[in-house]
Amino acid sequence: MSDSPDCCPLGRNWVEALSLHNFRNYTSLKLQLSPAPVVLVGANGAGKTNLLEAISLLSPGQGLRRATTVEFGCFSSGSYDWAVSADVHGIMGEARIGTGVTSNRLPGGSVPGQTDLDNGREVGSETLRRKIRMNGETLSSSTPLGQSIQMLWLTPAMDGLFTGAASERRRFLDRLMLVFTPESRKQWNLFERAMRQRNKLLEDTNASPYLFEGLEMQMAELGVAIAASRLETIERLRGVIAASRDRLNAFPFATIALDGVLETALEEKPAVDVEDDYRRLLSEGRQTDRAAKRTLIGPHRTDLLVGHGPKAMPARYCSTGEQKALLTGLVLAHARLVYDKVGGYTPLLLLDEIAAHFDEIRRHALFDEILALNCQAWMTGTDRQSFTYFGERAQLFTVNDAEIVA
Ligand SMILES: Nc1ncnc2c1ncn2[C@@H]1O[C@H](COP(=O)(O)OP(=O)(O)OP(=O)(O)O)[C@@H](O)[C@H]1O
Ligand SMILES: [Mg+2]
Repeated sequence: MSDSPDCCPLGRNWVEALSLHNFRNYTSLKLQLSPAPVVLVGANGAGKTNLLEAISLLSPGQGLRRATTVEFGCFSSGSYDWAVSADVHGIMGEARIGTGVTSNRLPGGSVPGQTDLDNGREVGSETLRRKIRMNGETLSSSTPLGQSIQMLWLTPAMDGLFTGAASERRRFLDRLMLVFTPESRKQWNLFERAMRQRNKLLEDTNASPYLFEGLEMQMAELGVAIAASRLETIERLRGVIAASRDRLNAFPFATIALDGVLETALEEKPAVDVEDDYRRLLSEGRQTDRAAKRTLIGPHRTDLLVGHGPKAMPARYCSTGEQKALLTGLVLAHARLVYDKVGGYTPLLLLDEIAAHFDEIRRHALFDEILALNCQAWMTGTDRQSFTYFGERAQLFTVNDAEIVA
């Protein structure tokens, strides 16, 4: 059994104040919050998901839509400038986070055009760079934000997670892992950089073996570290899922496993041996990789295998509602795991259109778990009725054409 109490009294990750400037369809917004769950209700296109996206930019990465910097600025503002800033609370205490783009006025105040958007980050001759500041210091990457606030999200775009590409499931897994091993993000970036350099080297038939060896050594070291963190996360999650299986029975319990060369090897051998084996595989595989024009073996090919426990059925064969319930159950299990392992702090949850697929029983079970976890879950929906169960226990805001009405 999990030793976590039904109510988590210690603390949580939460946003106390949020302000937006020229972000997506918002010209300007200021929001003051309590630590309680947040419900955003409004018509299609009102700006609910945009608000969740703004919060997701307070954590490492490109946010919940993985958009480019140029897409965040309000298209009708005649400028690429935008800003999101917030006062947040996490295990490290309070922090002020700000992110955005400044001083990228377009010549003559013209509206950003499709051509610029199509070309991604290039705006005229300037390169659009998102600035990130934490407690008054400018950061060179978003990675340290993970220390100030920990969050996880579920969006409708993730509904196809079990049927889509393995890379999406890997990304989901790596996000789950980030809370326990914040360094894994940096390791992953370094691994990808070394792999890109090796792939480039494969194009050159005269490339020196020494160059390959250096890169393959890095890839082996980083790859095995990443695989080990993934295995640890999966193991921990399995423990929480087993412990909450009966209590959270509105959500089918998930079976989870990793399908990856390094992860499988690590279950049988010490990490140093797996590292040696992987280095050898890379070295022996240069010809095959050259023909394929990419690296065929490594942690970048790992898949997260999820199954519907009670039905003993791979998640990809489950119904849409079952898949959503499985995924939600996984996110809730992760939230409880974070509470158990990270000093009693629950992560902030962004649950976009969460009520959409669920019947009343599941919806209420979800809300009960959110209240028991005592976490600041941000939930969106078009129908206020779906959230009446919360009563005074959540802060409800109506979003109306990029404005918030309490
Ligand atoms: N960069 C941008 N500048 C201006 N408007 C934008 C920008 N990006 C998106 N929008 C617009 O913002 C509006 C709100 O989008 P959002 O996804 O937040 O809606 P929503 O309230 O979640 O709606 P739904 O219930 O349909 O999911 C949309 O009309 C969208 O076209
Ligand atoms: Mg939306």
